[in-house]
Parts: sequence; C-alpha cells; structure tokens
Amino acid sequence: MQKKRIKLSFLEPEQWVVSEQGETILDTLVRNGIPIKQACTNGVCGVCLTPLLSGDVDYANRLPRGLNEKEKESGYFLPCISTCKTDICIGKPKVTLR
Ligand code: FES
Repeated sequence: MQKKRIKLSFLEPEQWVVSEQGETILDTLVRNGIPIKQACTNGVCGVCLTPLLSGDVDYANRLPRGLNEKEKESGYFLPCISTCKTDICIGKPKVTLR
C-alpha cells in the first residue's frame, strides 16, 4: 500500500495530510498535530471515533469493536486501528469521552 492523502474537511481552510505506508490514520493525525482523543489505541474504547466522509479505510484483520451499529451506519470509523485504503476525507474527530 502506498502513501495516501487524508483531507481534513473540518479545518478552515481544508487541509490535506499524507499517511505513510502502513501508518494508522490516528498516527498520521497525531504526527500532523491534529487534536484527537485516544485511549486504548486498540479499537475497543471508541474514543477516537471520527466521521469518514469519503474513501475507504482498511482494518486489516482487526475488529472495530468500539463501533456500535448506529455509529457504523452513520459513517464513523476508528482511526487507531485503520489505515487508508484510498485517499479519504474525514470530519472532525469526536473529542469527548462517551
Ligand atoms: S483509541 Fe480506543 S478505539 Fe481508538
């Protein structure tokens, strides 16, 4: 998998950051100074919940257990255990604890 671009639609003006090969989306956001809350970094707690507006992410063989059905249907994903399958566009990460 090659480098992919992540569009940060919630910033004004919109910005793009580059996700390195094999890098989780959470790591890409943190490396670029984007404020996102994290806790388990293992796909369980749901704290890093973020809206995926376009594109595809890859969980590989990991299960996004921190996502409930309603969140999945609403287009949320878990950046801590996913990598970019394509270039993606994301909304503002959920930053408050549930
Ligand atoms: S930090 Fe816990 S699910 Fe992402």
